[in-house]
Amino acid sequence: MNMATEIAATPATAAQAEPILRIKGLHKQYGHNEVLKGVDLDVQAGEMVFIIGPSGSGKSSLLRCCNRLEESSSGSIIVDGEEITAPRADLNRIRQKIGMVFQHFNLYRHMSVLSNVALALRKVQKLPRAEAESRAREALERVGLAHRADFYPDQLSGGQQQRVGIARALALHPRIVLFDEPTSALDPELVGSVLKVMKDLKAGGMTMVVVSHEMSFAMAAADRVVFMDGGSIIEQGSPKEVFGNPRHERTKAFLSSVSHNY
Ligand SMILES: Nc1ncnc2c1ncn2[C@@H]1O[C@H](COP(=O)(O)OP(=O)(O)OP(=O)(O)O)[C@@H](O)[C@H]1O
Ligand SMILES: [Mg+2]
Repeated sequence: MNMATEIAATPATAAQAEPILRIKGLHKQYGHNEVLKGVDLDVQAGEMVFIIGPSGSGKSSLLRCCNRLEESSSGSIIVDGEEITAPRADLNRIRQKIGMVFQHFNLYRHMSVLSNVALALRKVQKLPRAEAESRAREALERVGLAHRADFYPDQLSGGQQQRVGIARALALHPRIVLFDEPTSALDPELVGSVLKVMKDLKAGGMTMVVVSHEMSFAMAAADRVVFMDGGSIIEQGSPKEVFGNPRHERTKAFLSSVSHNY
């Protein structure tokens, strides 16, 4: 290879950056029940990947394995270049790279919004109070709730509480945020404010994996839709491809079983 080709080759190599999340051959069993049957999935920086699929298909199990809330049986998960599934992985440190947002926000009711968001910064990252609170305020700003910092969770709507849940994840400055049905517990009129925050995050370059039945949101905002069934990825593609022209019978059956208005 001469000098010129070598130089020309460099940017192409750089463009194939390592994914933020790399899941390889992931298996998970509960007793004899194999709920993940060899899942491979790469998520690139800045991507929003939607995971859809029937109840029990393994969507939550997959997300929960990604920060070792669940242990996988075999396979590997690499987050931002570090293998979280390695036996000696420093879980505390790697978990700070992965924000999780759940259906039920699990905020502490006796603590202010600010303290809820600052808690992990103080307890896990051991930041001094002032610094933790300043980062918490920044995170609340990003979800449009800076003016609610001194409120208690019960004084907020469900949508606002979920945005506090998102701020809590963002305060750790994660490399990726995983959402497990973030709007399923909300009244319909509150869903929009949470989806808007997610859209803003995407616009800001955040990498996200979202399990959700909000198909019209996926159509508008997702880069990729992954359909899971029976513990395997059955097909994936752009929202237009998967929703508009599903290739597999199981995808077609699932899509026609859910009410969709995308
Ligand atoms: N803690 C557990 N112990 C035993 N089995 C479990 C446990 N959690 C999940 N499972 C089983 O694993 C399978 C996958 O469940 P999972 O929660 O990952 O599905 P899901 O796709 O998220 O479903 P849903 O859409 O209902 O949330 C199911 O068969 C479920 O019964
Ligand atoms: Mg689930």
